[in-house]
Amino acid sequence: MATIELESTEQIASGVWKMQFGTPEAITPVKVRRSAPCLDALEELPSPGECPINIEDCGIRVTARGCVLTLPFSQSEGIFGFGLQLKSHLQSGKKKHLRVNSDPVADTGDSHAPVPFYVSTKGYGILVDTARYASAYVGTHAGQEALKARVVAKSEEPKLSTTELYTRQAIGKSVVFDIPAAQGVDVYIFAGPDMANAVSRYNLFSGGGCLPPYWGLGNWYRACARHTSSDVLELVDGFQKDKLPFSVVGLEPGWQTHAYPCTYTWSERFPEPESFISELNKSGYQLNLWEHAFVHPSAPFAEAIAPVCGENLAMDGLVPDFLETEACELFQKHHKKLIEQGVSGFKLDECDNSDFISFSWSFSEHDRFPSGADGEQMHCLYGIHYQQTIEETFTRNGLRSYGLVRSSGALAAPHTGVLYSDLYDHRDFIRGVVNSGFSGMLWSSEVRHAKDTEDLLRRIQTTVLTAQSQINGWYIPMPPWYQVDRKLNNEGVVMDEMDTVLPLVREALNLRMRLLPVLYTAFAEYARSGRPPFRAVVMDYPEDKATWSLDQQFMIGDHLLAAPLVAGETTKELYLPKGLWWDFKTGQQIEGGRRLTLENPSLDTIPLYVKDGAILPLAEIKRDNSESHEPTVIRPHVFSSTEAQGILYEDDGESLNASNQLWHELSWSANSGLNIQTEGPLMENQRIYTFGELKMP
Ligand code: GAL
Repeated sequence: MATIELESTEQIASGVWKMQFGTPEAITPVKVRRSAPCLDALEELPSPGECPINIEDCGIRVTARGCVLTLPFSQSEGIFGFGLQLKSHLQSGKKKHLRVNSDPVADTGDSHAPVPFYVSTKGYGILVDTARYASAYVGTHAGQEALKARVVAKSEEPKLSTTELYTRQAIGKSVVFDIPAAQGVDVYIFAGPDMANAVSRYNLFSGGGCLPPYWGLGNWYRACARHTSSDVLELVDGFQKDKLPFSVVGLEPGWQTHAYPCTYTWSERFPEPESFISELNKSGYQLNLWEHAFVHPSAPFAEAIAPVCGENLAMDGLVPDFLETEACELFQKHHKKLIEQGVSGFKLDECDNSDFISFSWSFSEHDRFPSGADGEQMHCLYGIHYQQTIEETFTRNGLRSYGLVRSSGALAAPHTGVLYSDLYDHRDFIRGVVNSGFSGMLWSSEVRHAKDTEDLLRRIQTTVLTAQSQINGWYIPMPPWYQVDRKLNNEGVVMDEMDTVLPLVREALNLRMRLLPVLYTAFAEYARSGRPPFRAVVMDYPEDKATWSLDQQFMIGDHLLAAPLVAGETTKELYLPKGLWWDFKTGQQIEGGRRLTLENPSLDTIPLYVKDGAILPLAEIKRDNSESHEPTVIRPHVFSSTEAQGILYEDDGESLNASNQLWHELSWSANSGLNIQTEGPLMENQRIYTFGELKMP
């Protein structure tokens, strides 16, 4: 066992330091990255000050299993992050094994998208640059010197309740990373000065947050895997009759001649893809296609790609090595054709891993790839590099895209895949929104079937408040508001409550559409300054310890706080940080800095609160946001009785042309009314908004 000296420390960007220990591996997230850090934008963040942690307190030793990295920790700090953690929020005192696994059945650290990045309430973030299944021990163990402090405790009466026996706080003075295989590691330190800015800095270092096309933030519906093109057209006809605003339709495996593994080729269910897509577009819908990365032998590029694939098959398909340019190019060449047919994005499924399925789900950790990566490294990098490969195909065509992805990793912020999962626990799904924002990730709390109508409505009311508002009907032929029960839905039985449920579904989907300009602005801010559009409350209020445990409510943009309901909650407890808040729907004023209890919330209650002093640029409702070329009418909504401010971002909504960005600064006071200052040169015919009447609470 050898202790290794720090090789070097250097400041590599504003507020970002890099420490190198020993000899790091050649394949790590930073070393193989294809997105550049946003160095200028890093300079624009608040002054970071000195390096926020004491470098002398960091060290590693090389062991027979790899290396062990020690970083400083104090028991008074809250640690959050480690990627998409569905099972827990505050990580101080916990061990996290950061393994790529789509079935996190317990709070072990297993995740679709684990990331060796964490952020502290003390206002700094740390990225350990490894593509290994590292384990992080966050203040879990104290050294022997801690015994001295315990001597007094000997004389105390034993405490024997289960809570007393089993409750453990963080007791150690370090965060320890146990990293297999590596003989050294690079560590990146991100200064704040506060928690939110430390996350922003990490996101800008990753390449800045993604900006989806405007339509991407509307409502999505994934059609049943068995549907044909005429079924899908009938489905969207139904949306129009039911006055349900959807912007994107997704097709599941059945669009291909073979899946799983994939041929990426239209099946006979969709005999004329171009005219099908153009019909969808005419009615205002974009098309998204499901796929996974494993290539069927009859795929048009199977033979060509084989030499740049892993040595073994996964799900009987070839596994492209997305660290190899040639594999990416072959994939891109084929996808370019689909994009030119009008496909607006992809759902990149099953690029994670699983150990809890009855057959081998993915490639194995011991597999070898032409790039030199082994299967473990490939799992840690696969989601990111698969996304990058697909995204480049869009950007080369001058387009933005927005889609889904089942795995992600370090440096995720610029990527356009929103994470989702087959696991279906509603509270875990809400926790996914809260936690994904710590590590530059987006999460969709998608909706499938439901236990009952209340469950369905609560899930829909949640998804409309997440990064991608998604109904995933892949195994039900009728939309779930026609029948929530999966079996009955497949039998074509429409439920009696349909008439009462439909208006409530419409109301939730319309809420999404009203919020669209607010969301688009929050994403533009994500791209510009790295600030996550969806984030834990603690990120904005780290000083307020009551926010540390809030894993069922989150901030949206700068002014909104959402606390979605879960079916069966007859009493909902939530916490509003200090200051005055407004109930979004009723306009009632609420004093914060306290817990709030909602008793017997009605089925149409969506707990959503606005910070006092905000102007929200809300959209006036039309059927959907992409149907016509007419600009969306903005109704600036004031939440104040004295003065208020707000921001609205605008561009052409879809291209990569950075020169047509407009930032509207809205201000209002009781004395002088509304004032709008606009910065930027957008051409008149490219506008997506026009301003309508002001709305007061
Ligand atoms: C799952 C995915 C589902 C659906 C299904 C299709 O892996 O999570 O959303 O796409 O595959 O087979």
